[in-house]
Amino acid sequence: MLIRYKKTYEKIAMGLLSFMPNEKNVKSLVNTIKDYETNEDNHLFLWKLDDIVGIIGIQLLPDQVLLIKHLSVNPSFRNQGIATALYDAIRNQYTDYTIITTSEIASFIEHCHSSLKVL
Ligand SMILES: CC(C)(COP(=O)(O)OP(=O)(O)OC[C@H]1O[C@@H](n2cnc3c(N)ncnc32)[C@H](O)[C@@H]1OP(=O)(O)O)[C@@H](O)C(=O)NCCC(=O)NCCS
Repeated sequence: MLIRYKKTYEKIAMGLLSFMPNEKNVKSLVNTIKDYETNEDNHLFLWKLDDIVGIIGIQLLPDQVLLIKHLSVNPSFRNQGIATALYDAIRNQYTDYTIITTSEIASFIEHCHSSLKVL
């Protein structure tokens, strides 16, 4: 189930974000979380089973463009379709948006879907 980030999830969110290749140091992670908490165009969502196991971070850009900035799943829960479910949930929630992403995330998404523009 897709749920919205809130402050009480900060530590688990930082843990999940730390699996991203460009989020390897604590300073960068703290800035990233702060950005999601304060910038109203940035949104973080989590995937909840019994526990929170995945995260997706997006930024809404002008002209109905949605940039996927972060996508990560707890290693113990990988290859069970959770990242695909996160991506599909965002697509279903923001149906009027053109979705773009970074090359590292596009490589994953292109594995599952084929119509994504690369940033
Ligand atoms: C990439 C990631 C989010 C996938 O999560 P997941 O829940 O295991 O993904 P799903 O179960 O929905 O899909 C798994 C499929 O994606 C493929 N895949 C995983 N990472 C991939 C990548 N970087 N590029 C292309 N395909 C990838 C797997 O091989 C698997 O393929 P299969 O179904 O044909 O066997 C997860 O491996 C992760 O958190 N990685 C670290 C964070 C990261 O690097 N994020 C940037 C890329 S999204």
